[in-house]
Amino acid sequence: MTIPTVSLPSGARMPTFGIGTWRMGEERRRRKEETDAIRHALDLGFTLIDTAEMYGEGGAEEAIADAIARRRDGLFIVSKVYPHNASRQGAIAACERSLARLRIERIDLYLLHWMGGVPFEETIAAFRKLRDDGKIADWGVSNFDLDDLQSWYDKDGGRCATNQVMYNLARRGVEFDLLPWMRQHNMPLMAYSPFDRGPLARNTALKTVADRHGATPAQVALAWLLRQPGMIAIPKSADKQRLTENFGALQVKLTDADLADLDRAFPPPRGKRSLAMA
Ligand SMILES: NC(=O)c1ccc[n+]([C@@H]2O[C@H](COP(=O)([O-])OP(=O)(O)OC[C@H]3O[C@@H](n4cnc5c(N)ncnc54)[C@H](OP(=O)(O)O)[C@@H]3O)[C@@H](O)[C@H]2O)c1
Repeated sequence: MTIPTVSLPSGARMPTFGIGTWRMGEERRRRKEETDAIRHALDLGFTLIDTAEMYGEGGAEEAIADAIARRRDGLFIVSKVYPHNASRQGAIAACERSLARLRIERIDLYLLHWMGGVPFEETIAAFRKLRDDGKIADWGVSNFDLDDLQSWYDKDGGRCATNQVMYNLARRGVEFDLLPWMRQHNMPLMAYSPFDRGPLARNTALKTVADRHGATPAQVALAWLLRQPGMIAIPKSADKQRLTENFGALQVKLTDADLADLDRAFPPPRGKRSLAMA
């Protein structure tokens, strides 16, 4: 199965389905298992890998480096800078450290992990310099609610490629205002924690829908995201069998009846909710 792509403001195309790596790279003794799991994901056909300098304090980026060595072409690598590193000089230095750990020349998409105390202008100036120097191709933000995203977007001239936020069936708050605004501005949303960090993969309402398709609840949670235009899902698993299961979500096509049942079990928001965060 080929993974669909979305277009970014730079004209680059980004896969809509990838793998997350939070909680990887934290323990040396699990490194080989994690690297093997990432390799397995690439063998399945995943090409997008989401990581951050925060994950395992660089350990996840190192595990990825081992997995992508000699097969970097065609992959789309996302990493993130800590807010406390997001100053004009700090973000450049942090990006260079990430590049060294990942053992690549360029990060495809570099995100501010969440908003901190550094003025947006400074971080944007650093991101521009990194792009001009070829160290990143695109930039974006993460965990930004609407007001802050609008303010960032005004300052970066509409170059913000995405906003990575928590979005899944159990956390639908973004549907009220953030997601419509992003759609209006052709900005894809990167949905993190698609299983709500695990529970949705065991949910009985999802199981009922899954049974109709010979699928699993985890696949339904992913198919529900993947059917939406401009949506990118990044489930995490360090287990080969679950990675294979997750990849299989591409084949699950939910019907109107499925969607209505899911809306009943997980009602969409009727008003503003504060942004969910993992
Ligand atoms: N920007 C941010 O602030 C932010 C915050 C959170 C996450 N993220 C990104 O989004 C990625 C995904 O989010 P997440 O890691 O929070 O949560 P998630 O993907 O919703 O859930 C991960 C959990 O689900 C389990 N799992 C995976 N596939 C499964 C399956 N088929 N059946 C049953 N269980 C399954 C995993 O266990 P196993 O590994 O044992 O399979 C893990 O415990 C992260 O890894 C990270 O890259 C970004």
